[in-house]
Amino acid sequence: MSIKEKYALLTRDLGWDTTYQSMDAVFPQDKFEGIVIHNWDGWEDPFRMTMDAYWKFQSEKERKLYAIIDAFQQNNGQLNVTDARYVNALKLFLTGVSPLEYAAHRGFAMAGRNLRGAGARVACQMQSVDELRHCQTQVHTISQYNKFFNGFEDWTHMHDRLWYLSVPKSYFEDAMTAGPFEFITAISFSFEYVLTNLLFMPFMSGAAFNGDMATVTFGFSAQSDESRHMTLGLEVVKFMLEQDPANLPIIQKWVDKWFWRGYRLLTLVAMMMDYMLPKKVMSWKEAWEMYFEQNGGALFADLARYGVRMPKYHEQAAQEKDHLSHIAWSIFYNFNHAAAIHTWVPEENELDWLKAQYPDTFEEHHLPHLRYWQEQHKAGKRWTNPGLPMLCQLCQVPMAFREPGDPTQVCYREVKYEGENYHFCSDGCCDIFKNEPEKYVQAWLPVHQIFQGNCGGPTLPEVLDWYHLKPEAAGDYADSADRANWERWTNDNPKAA
Ligand SMILES: [Fe+2]
Ligand SMILES: [Fe+2]
Ligand SMILES: [Zn+2]
Repeated sequence: MSIKEKYALLTRDLGWDTTYQSMDAVFPQDKFEGIVIHNWDGWEDPFRMTMDAYWKFQSEKERKLYAIIDAFQQNNGQLNVTDARYVNALKLFLTGVSPLEYAAHRGFAMAGRNLRGAGARVACQMQSVDELRHCQTQVHTISQYNKFFNGFEDWTHMHDRLWYLSVPKSYFEDAMTAGPFEFITAISFSFEYVLTNLLFMPFMSGAAFNGDMATVTFGFSAQSDESRHMTLGLEVVKFMLEQDPANLPIIQKWVDKWFWRGYRLLTLVAMMMDYMLPKKVMSWKEAWEMYFEQNGGALFADLARYGVRMPKYHEQAAQEKDHLSHIAWSIFYNFNHAAAIHTWVPEENELDWLKAQYPDTFEEHHLPHLRYWQEQHKAGKRWTNPGLPMLCQLCQVPMAFREPGDPTQVCYREVKYEGENYHFCSDGCCDIFKNEPEKYVQAWLPVHQIFQGNCGGPTLPEVLDWYHLKPEAAGDYADSADRANWERWTNDNPKAA
């Protein structure tokens, strides 16, 4: 039997038409979104031909990965990172992204169950297996850092409670509570195909530049699956578009929505690239231009023959590229007493780099805050914001983004729905709400929950305790135990310094 025949038997042959229940009763979800499929056999899945190789490659990757991580641990590899500030990028990734890998595992298992085409089911099932593996390897890798640095210790608990972790969490929950076609369009196409390079490339090169070989290893191990996931994303969108012309407006709406949601999620990556990596890879602005404006632009030019256009508000994303990372860092600096990562004012050479990367905007709009904070900290009055921020009802990021075309104004949009006011950070978030208000009025917004008394109590210490946030995991890097430990270790160990 050829590989192709074997694969056909293993996938298509495992499907059957139901008899004592109707197919529609068994698969109620793959029609309610309005997507029309005439012929499921038109599904091309990216796993075909490589099933045999798949198991072999994955097991080899596992063996190599764990061998490298063990070597990293035995050689105290954590002492070879550029400096302990870097580890905060890792804290953000572990607490923000690893739970999303697990959510992807669950989401693809659900999507597979709900699609009646056998090819689609198998493709989803395989990706579900991959995503579980990603979550496991990331947790295993980062367990090493947990022994030496604060902020990692209770990440699953924190993922459900901390204000900024609600941003990635709500993104995935939005996708998982959509129908199966929207889920795949959201995750496989909009995130993995269109935007994933903006997460993985900077993060992995950032890890390599900053001496973090454990993260490079799990990154490559996950990234090698990603090309398959990206293929699935593109295939599924083309499949839907080819099946029926009525599918186009639905898909365009999802492309618009999930582009904006994914872009807002990447705010955290922008901040990591420009502020959290002691050795910089490239600026957020450069990354956005390369990976979205150029590569993404080429993709959408290619999809134009199906009638798909560029995602709505991509021009606003382009306008924000000068400001995004600085706004995000400012939010975390303001509320650092309630975050499990440290922040700091960049060193002089880093400020020079930011000036050079953002020549038209940084000195005018963002440097003055940093200088003010620097002075306050020197005077023993480290600035923290005593209030609670208003959150965007949709993306859940504190409302600090700027009005398109006017960086001196905070962007603010408002919608009244059934007697209540809802606030948004942008036209993109506002539009998504207006399309499905009954979904987003249910959002669990961390700040609202504090005011409603659902987060441990009315005082800050009670809320932080409810977060399980230990004081040593929060606050300025300069005053942190991470820093004190790091200086002690590297002085004792001049080879690593
Ligand atoms: Fe993954
Ligand atoms: Fe993936
Ligand atoms: Zn928003």
